[in-house]
Amino acid sequence: MALEAVVLAAGEGKRMHSRLAKVLHPLAGKPLLGHVLDVADSLNPRHVHVVVGEHGDEVKAHFQGRSGISWVSQTPRLGTGHAVAQALPAIADDATVLVLLGDAPLIDKETLGACVRHAASGIALVTAKQPCPEGFGRVLRVDGKVVGIVEEKDASAEQRAITEINAGLLAAPKPLLAELLANVSPANAQGEYYLTDVIALAAERGCDIESFPVPDPDLALGVNDRAQLARLERYCQRQQAEALMAAGVTLMDPARLDIRGKVTAGLDCTIDVNVIFEGEVVLGDNVTIGPGCVIRDAKIGDDVEIRAMTSIDGATLGAGCRVGPYARLRPGTELAADVHIGNFVETKKAQIGAGAKANHLAYLGDATVGGESNIGAGAITCNYDGVEKHRTEIGTGVFVGTNATLVAPLTIEDDAYVGAGSTITKTVGREDLAIGRGRQRNVQGWTPPAKRSPK
Ligand code: UD1
Ligand code: CA
Repeated sequence: MALEAVVLAAGEGKRMHSRLAKVLHPLAGKPLLGHVLDVADSLNPRHVHVVVGEHGDEVKAHFQGRSGISWVSQTPRLGTGHAVAQALPAIADDATVLVLLGDAPLIDKETLGACVRHAASGIALVTAKQPCPEGFGRVLRVDGKVVGIVEEKDASAEQRAITEINAGLLAAPKPLLAELLANVSPANAQGEYYLTDVIALAAERGCDIESFPVPDPDLALGVNDRAQLARLERYCQRQQAEALMAAGVTLMDPARLDIRGKVTAGLDCTIDVNVIFEGEVVLGDNVTIGPGCVIRDAKIGDDVEIRAMTSIDGATLGAGCRVGPYARLRPGTELAADVHIGNFVETKKAQIGAGAKANHLAYLGDATVGGESNIGAGAITCNYDGVEKHRTEIGTGVFVGTNATLVAPLTIEDDAYVGAGSTITKTVGREDLAIGRGRQRNVQGWTPPAKRSPK
């Protein structure tokens, strides 16, 4: 039987108190719905139907570039059973339907796979043992067999004490699910068509209902409010930290690392506390990252040392580079091997050759710096004339003195020197010394002005 997934994402997310659709809130750098769509895709479904409501346009816009999604609109929103019913007309009768919740992002592929296999003939329900089951639907059993689910708001005190919960996900053959949903009524505390009611209806008919417990109860957690979102974030971060350590990375404190994207690392990297990775970051072998660094979309070569409080975004660093503390590498920065970028140096669209150094307080924007050149403290490329950006081309072995102002477009040829404090506007030839500053004049025996006496 072909698989079709239905993802419920039309809820208001009232408990989030947010203008942003709940399913767009990020978890480990990716929207909740993105996690659910990824796990759905991992099962190779024929179609993925996503049910959206009030925030539909915003949600659709976010996933615009993603193929294989059929959007289903649910208006008005009358509950999870009603939401699934809106998707059914687009699903062929030969399909197994897997229902996923847009706010339950941690669910694992293996449990879902087992559900789908069972659901070729019966109903599969994902469950978990939760020591604190508050907020979840509870699984009702008679003689060990699942006979229904009761929502917390409809549950008796005795039922609330049950710790086996409904994770909210189920799988069933399409015709059976359609028939059961047609019989669901909204006679309950919330006046909604509950998807969960299909379980009792199926039990009454003697259907084969099988429960599939998740391997770790945390995988069943959903996001209804920001406290739950934070709890899931910590869970994801812990998992990612463990994976890095298992791959040979030393973390000074696994609880003080945040990965909002994907990090791959070679052997023997060391990451100090409060480092944040975003987007896609690749670390070579033996990379050292100091405390408080924020690194996004970067490729870092072997033996690189990134010192404290450095910000890197959209940059490539060759082997043996030393960057920071307090450096800022912006998009388009490419450092060859053994480059040193020191404190309060900012680079943008800058290609810097092997062994070059800019150790203090410089700005290199829209610039090329050849190998072994030295950029002095306070040197600035003036790349912007108020309208356009211009490039500064600096050759190899160039010495740019302290506080030089390099007005682009500008070329400084190989092995040239620029005197400290110069404003350079014209090409500097190979091996030339350029000085562009007022001459010093000393006035001998100068008398400072007398202090004015008060009137
Ligand atoms: C639901 C289950 C509960 C389960 C819990 C697991 C029902 C009735 N209850 O409760 O048994 O333990 O999930 O997390 O199914 N949605 C729609 N349209 C609607 C209503 C909801 O698309 O009309 C979507 C929401 O966007 C959300 C999901 O369905 O992604 C679940 O809805 P929510 O209101 O959060 O249900 P819970 O109270 O968490
Ligand atoms: Ca929920």
